Amino acid sequence: MKTLHRVADLHGELSEWRTRHETVALVPTMGNLHAGHISLVERARHLAECVVVSVFVNPLQFGPKEDFERYPRTLEADAALLRQTGADLLFAPAVADMYPGGYPPVTTVRVGGPLTGILDGEFRPGHFEGVATVVNILFNLVQPAVALFGEKDWQQLQVIRRMVADLGLPLRVNGAPTLRDADGLALSSRNQYLGPQERAIAPRLYAALCAIGEAIAAGRRDFAALCAQQRAVLEAAGFRAQYLEVRAPDLAPPDPQAGAWVVLAAAYLGSTRLIDNLQVRAPDVAVQRAMPE
Ligand code: PAJ
Repeated sequence: MKTLHRVADLHGELSEWRTRHETVALVPTMGNLHAGHISLVERARHLAECVVVSVFVNPLQFGPKEDFERYPRTLEADAALLRQTGADLLFAPAVADMYPGGYPPVTTVRVGGPLTGILDGEFRPGHFEGVATVVNILFNLVQPAVALFGEKDWQQLQVIRRMVADLGLPLRVNGAPTLRDADGLALSSRNQYLGPQERAIAPRLYAALCAIGEAIAAGRRDFAALCAQQRAVLEAAGFRAQYLEVRAPDLAPPDPQAGAWVVLAAAYLGSTRLIDNLQVRAPDVAVQRAMPE
């Protein structure tokens, strides 16, 4: 596996693949790779002949008071993991390579409408504009046939699908299930910020999602009351919840008559912000899979 930092070197490698007519899958990441990221890389290997993994801590998607500076950067360990997994190329650019016109860029991609005004979009203003912009740049540089994203970041996945649809980008977006620790906590690079006591409490976020999911599966449709109740449980356990909501899989307001929903949450434990979500289906309704692929 090659590690490349420069766009010109990336183009050189990609053009060799292209002359051999090899298809490319892209897995965008911010590094500090864990088993969740690796599951995307393994999935990518089945979807294309060549797998590019990008590692770039994108300053444009962090708010001024967020953890950009302290975000863990572990490129050597990431490269070792990727080599074992069978990735073909690690692309790890610097800010000046990704934003060659200067940082911050004056040209950005903003997915508008309700999708980015709610949930994380409400609590992290500008976040999804930063994500859409950097992902669009990566798509332009790598020109993959398929790009993989985790369902762990459900709203991000929807935003990227919408950007790809609205801009007619010539690639497929593949969503992959969330990997969790044995106690239910979704794997995340931010979990290492948690102290031992916080780490012990953290799985209760997923437990709250499951409690709501089970109630819905059992027939309850009083979404707001279910969420308010679990929010109180979380607050009592020491979380500061930002949102806990039931929505349609496309993040529209939830239809009680529908057969599929997503429960989404963001909550602070100390200074660590955790997000998670759970897909829920009504057992007695024949539902098409909410997400293609
Ligand atoms: P990052 O948080 O590094 O995540 C990279 C990819 O891994 C995302 O698609 C994310 O949804 C997925 N992922 C994270 N935790 C996961 C888990 N436990 N199980 C399965 N997949 C998981 O998301 C970003 O980076 C950035 O916003 C990025 C898209 C790279 C743009 O900068």
